[in-house]
Amino acid sequence: MYLTKTITDLQQHLQVAVKKGANIGFVPTMGALHQGHISLIKRALSENEYVVCSIFVNPTQFNQATDLETYPKTPAADVMLLAASGNHVLFHPDVSDIYPNGMQVKPRNLGPVSTIFEGAFRPGHFDGVAEVVSRLFNAVKPTKAYFGLKDYQQCMIIKALVELENIPISLVFCPTQRENDGLAMSSRNRRLSAEQRKTAAIIPQTLAFIRANYSYYKKDELLLAGREMLLGQLQTEYLDIVHAHTLQPLDSASDPAVALFAGRCGEVRLIDNMLLTE
Ligand code: PAF
Repeated sequence: MYLTKTITDLQQHLQVAVKKGANIGFVPTMGALHQGHISLIKRALSENEYVVCSIFVNPTQFNQATDLETYPKTPAADVMLLAASGNHVLFHPDVSDIYPNGMQVKPRNLGPVSTIFEGAFRPGHFDGVAEVVSRLFNAVKPTKAYFGLKDYQQCMIIKALVELENIPISLVFCPTQRENDGLAMSSRNRRLSAEQRKTAAIIPQTLAFIRANYSYYKKDELLLAGREMLLGQLQTEYLDIVHAHTLQPLDSASDPAVALFAGRCGEVRLIDNMLLTE
């Protein structure tokens, strides 16, 4: 696996593959890698001749300094996991490589999906995500880029970014990878105590309950029951059922629907979602 820190070196290295006509698959990450990330690398490897993974903890997407400071970092384990996965290039830039002129975030109109749920609870978060993804896309210039559907709203934001800026990259959104008890794999799970880790399984249980009963009960009844399940276990920020394409309220029972959750298990903020209809 080729390791590089700078955009110039990365681009020089990739030139050889590009000249041979290789498709470049790209998996952007913030490190603290787990099997969810590795599943994205494997998918990228199956669809491209060359795969680049980036590890960059992007300061502009953290709306709270403590969240940035406590974000888990496991650089040695990350390199080992990536090398074993068959990934070809690890791009791990410094802040000054990605933001050479200071941490400026271009204002973008990413549409109504950017201001609700995560957009409302974490003001500025999606502006920072769009900024870094745009800069990383520009550095790597991949054929395809891979993102996990665990960050459902983020996938929609990146789709909006690609459309807004006419970026010639195909996006591939991949299914959420789950632990044996259903908890969505996330770098943040490492920050849970053993007891919190057990408690957190109520999140996928609640979402699975909503999915299993979606065709039998009214939305409000399901949400009430779901919030009851979470009560006393976690601090729920939102649990909602919305249109799967727009994240707006449902118009009819036949609309594609998704259940979205965010909440805190102690200090650790977790998000998850489940599609309720095909
Ligand atoms: O999902 C993530 O890990 C990050 O938000 C991303 C897409 C790598 C941008 O920093």
